[in-house]
Amino acid sequence: MLLPIIMAGGSGSRLWPLSRQLNPKQFLALGDGRLSMLQATIQRLQGLETALPSLICNEEHRFLAAEQLRRLGMEEANILLEPVGRNTAPAIALATLQAVAEGEDPVLLVLAADHLIQDVDSFHAAIETALPLANDGKLVTFGIKPSHPETGYGYIEQGAAASNGGFAVARFVEKPDLATAEDYVASGRFFWNSGMFMFRAGRYLEELGRFRPDILAACRKALEGGAQDMHFTRVDAAAFETCPEDSIDYAVMEKTADAVMVPLNAGWSDVGSWSVLWDMSIKDAGGNVFKGDVLGQSTRNTYVHADSRMVATVGVEDLVVVETPDAVLVAHRDKVQDVKKVVERLKAEG
Ligand code: GDD
Ligand code: MG
Repeated sequence: MLLPIIMAGGSGSRLWPLSRQLNPKQFLALGDGRLSMLQATIQRLQGLETALPSLICNEEHRFLAAEQLRRLGMEEANILLEPVGRNTAPAIALATLQAVAEGEDPVLLVLAADHLIQDVDSFHAAIETALPLANDGKLVTFGIKPSHPETGYGYIEQGAAASNGGFAVARFVEKPDLATAEDYVASGRFFWNSGMFMFRAGRYLEELGRFRPDILAACRKALEGGAQDMHFTRVDAAAFETCPEDSIDYAVMEKTADAVMVPLNAGWSDVGSWSVLWDMSIKDAGGNVFKGDVLGQSTRNTYVHADSRMVATVGVEDLVVVETPDAVLVAHRDKVQDVKKVVERLKAEG
């Protein structure tokens, strides 16, 4: 059985001011169409043979998540609630421990709730390729041919061809610095880590237990002390708060000897920042993307999102301008990774 685990606990702070603590990006309709990124993630599984997905997100988004699932006719799906965010290694551990609780060892398809994928058929084909590898005990990641030296991604060095369509992972490096990323892209041997994974539940627990027994122990305790509340699974908050914070990429994927990469060529995009949204959107003749009531005069290669008022730009290029009722962002397109620093400062300065 293939069990989709959907991670939806991120804060999406690089998409401020549209993405907010109470309504982060995975719950917003940022792509084409009216579905939120979370709903599109679930919809994309249609046509594959999977169990009902399991969602893992922050407690404060439980009604948002439940409502969005209900609108897809998935009100029976389980939603695991985290009282605090401890990043993806613990989140996946909770979902995995829950999946094995009844003595089963399903293959998990771990998905991020905030990716766009244009070619669903190729996505399904990659999943079919990965399935036997995961069944075989491998930890599969899906690799994307890089187009530029993005520092917000993990990099996978392609090793020898594994059986039926996968490759050994020679090296997995999470978020290298720019010079390293440039070397990797120039070498032609590296793929981006898409942030989607497939493995047997038991294999993830084995590897996590080997590299981060502290995380595994805290998650075990948190789930044991938890309770079921309709379709919500709550964990023991005090136990989960003691769990160290780490991502699956650092905690497991960089370290495991059993990683395998399946290439994914499906128009994948992580909607990680405003420049990514600009990148993947259809542009006008000046290279601009204007959403809402926008007037661009002598404006080039600029992304403008007007939420509640008219926005005009004159004589500017390579900007990101995002207007909302209570906050306006003006950023250089090359510096949009730093938008999260604004959010950090807002938090720190209250
Ligand atoms: N439930 C839960 N709890 N989900 C979380 C948490 C958490 O504490 N933290 C993050 N997530 C979710 C996010 O909502 C997102 O869907 C996914 O997990 C990945 O987290 P990000 O915070 O967006 O990770 P990233 O973009 O910095 O890096 C990852 O994705 C890249 C590709 O998009 C890594 O896997 C990189 O290696 C990869 O290249
Ligand atoms: Mg991301």
